[in-house]
Amino acid sequence: MIYARIAGTGSYLPARVVPNSELEQRVDTSDQWIIERTGIKQRHLAAPDETTCDLAEHAARQALAAANCQPEDLDLIILGTTTPDRIYPSTACLLQARLGNHGAPAFDVQAVCSGFIYALSIATQFIQAGTAKKVLVVGAEIYSRILNWQDRNTCVLFGDGAGAVVLEASDTPGILSTHIHAEGQHNNLLSTPGTVDQGQIRNGAGFTEMQGSEVFKFAVNALSSVVDEALQHNQLQPSDIDWLIPHQANIRIIKATAKKLKLPMDQVIVTVPEHGNTSAASVPLALDVGVRDGRIQRGQTLLLEAIGGGFTWGAVLLKY
Ligand code: ACO
Repeated sequence: MIYARIAGTGSYLPARVVPNSELEQRVDTSDQWIIERTGIKQRHLAAPDETTCDLAEHAARQALAAANCQPEDLDLIILGTTTPDRIYPSTACLLQARLGNHGAPAFDVQAVCSGFIYALSIATQFIQAGTAKKVLVVGAEIYSRILNWQDRNTCVLFGDGAGAVVLEASDTPGILSTHIHAEGQHNNLLSTPGTVDQGQIRNGAGFTEMQGSEVFKFAVNALSSVVDEALQHNQLQPSDIDWLIPHQANIRIIKATAKKLKLPMDQVIVTVPEHGNTSAASVPLALDVGVRDGRIQRGQTLLLEAIGGGFTWGAVLLKY
């Protein structure tokens, strides 16, 4: 049996930190409202000249170093993003050129906040099929560029960042299972509408629009169901999990999933107060934080989960 094993992790946050108090100056909101409803205290925002590829490169180089892997050793690059630098080529191809890898397939995955979980799932299939041995999987976003900074319903929620892992083929576990889903009929509940046509954006303004309470309800149910699915598939109990590494959208959604698993919050990696929702970057960023501060140890059982626009959602159960 070939397993896909996480050989190294990395992450990157832009230098500029924006506390809630700064958003109080822009929209009719308060630090207290944002913290009570979401848990978010601050977020990092990219500089005007920073690109999604810049963020991805920092995270990727850290992950490669941690895995003791050279860019030329990679035989696949998958990047989850909702905020690519160009319509095409993919940000994965831009990243490949930066890293100096030649010839490996490289492509982006668009699953919004589930982008990293989708990308990890695809990478795992390639490794288990024997068609790839070392895969770079990245989640990178400059989500701030698709926010309407006059819309208090959305602009307080998101941040920018990147996270990455190097996956390698191994005869010891490894990723135990991946579970991904979508329900496209809900595409209008969370969307950045807009079609590029003749150099103009039509059919929408290109800003994130969200029906927050509907998204909230769907998220709690979908995440609760997919963590059950992952555990049942592996005949594991919630008590077998060492760390829950959830998508960092809202502390109340994270607490609901932890409660469902009867997992104390000190077994949950929580970065939402400092990072906000970094979309596809949120799970690999949280993973890297937990690895680098020493909480996550080799041999432990990790449950990763995320939900995003689409709706898309998924979970990954693994031995670190
Ligand atoms: N400051 C102050 N008031 C606000 C703000 C704000 N920043 N934003 C909204 N409000 C107001 C609204 O205008 C509304 O006022 P009204 O009742 O007078 O109309 C009220 O607060 C909304 O209250 P609720 O709907 O009760 O707010 P809720 O408790 O649902 O919290 C939130 C809103 C934080 C958006 C929540 O619904 C949420 O987290 N939703 C899920 C988001 C999510 O998980 N996204 C994940 C995927 S993200 C992706 O894929 C890109």
